Amino acid sequence: MASHWRRCGTQRTTSWPRGLWRLDRSGERYTSVADHYFSAEPGSADVRRTVEARIWGRDYTFTTATGVFSRDRLDIGTAVLLREVEPPKESGTFLDLGTGYGPIACALAVESSAVVWAVDVNTRAVELTAENARRAGVGDRVHAVLVDDVPDDVRFDQIWSNPAIHIGKPELHKMLLRWLARLAPDGVAWFVVGKNLGGDSLQRWMTEQGYPCERVGSAKGFRVLRATNAGPAPS
Ligand SMILES: C[S@@+](CC[C@H](N)C(=O)[O-])C[C@H]1O[C@@H](n2cnc3c(N)ncnc32)[C@H](O)[C@@H]1O
Repeated sequence: MASHWRRCGTQRTTSWPRGLWRLDRSGERYTSVADHYFSAEPGSADVRRTVEARIWGRDYTFTTATGVFSRDRLDIGTAVLLREVEPPKESGTFLDLGTGYGPIACALAVESSAVVWAVDVNTRAVELTAENARRAGVGDRVHAVLVDDVPDDVRFDQIWSNPAIHIGKPELHKMLLRWLARLAPDGVAWFVVGKNLGGDSLQRWMTEQGYPCERVGSAKGFRVLRATNAGPAPS
């Protein structure tokens, strides 16, 4: 990879949009690195639009933007997750891990009386989630923040996530362990992962890590997973 970067370098001409570019795998096209949806600061212009979605029987209008995951519609994986799992009615403290523009966080807050921490590495995603939560009338209970801005003592009764698989397995595992460690003893975590993107192996991996994980749904090529906290190993 390092040699790939050296060989490609960066390409900037006056007619190209600002940002960092590299050759794609075919070696024929330049793609914008800055436009990855998991960029901390998307390099693309912040072009906004609205997306309509029906979640758990309610209609939402979300503001989305360039540089944010699935800006044109509710992602199919996210839609599968929200269709396969009943809306939580409990209160408590929830986490939407990798919130994007916030569809999961907003729906969780609307359906329950929980406080929802909506975290992302992408500043634009965090801003959009805060805006969308205000529009949905739950801005006071959705805390949209960057990943390092959740106070250390917060524990989660529920974690919900359509996780960023494309960050690569080592980063993905690190991210999941970081947040699963903060699952309350009787907490539950819900995930949606593409079967082709390793949904079944991720299920096994979470179980091996001490978070017994079962498949609770499967649709449109996605696995819906439920993990719990096995607690400390018996001594
Ligand atoms: C598959 S998208 C899901 C977005 C949103 N929840 C949805 O359903 O539309 C995953 C999100 O995770 C974010 N992400 C990437 N790396 C992350 C990390 N280390 N910690 C938290 N979020 C991350 C990405 O920026 C992206 O918004």
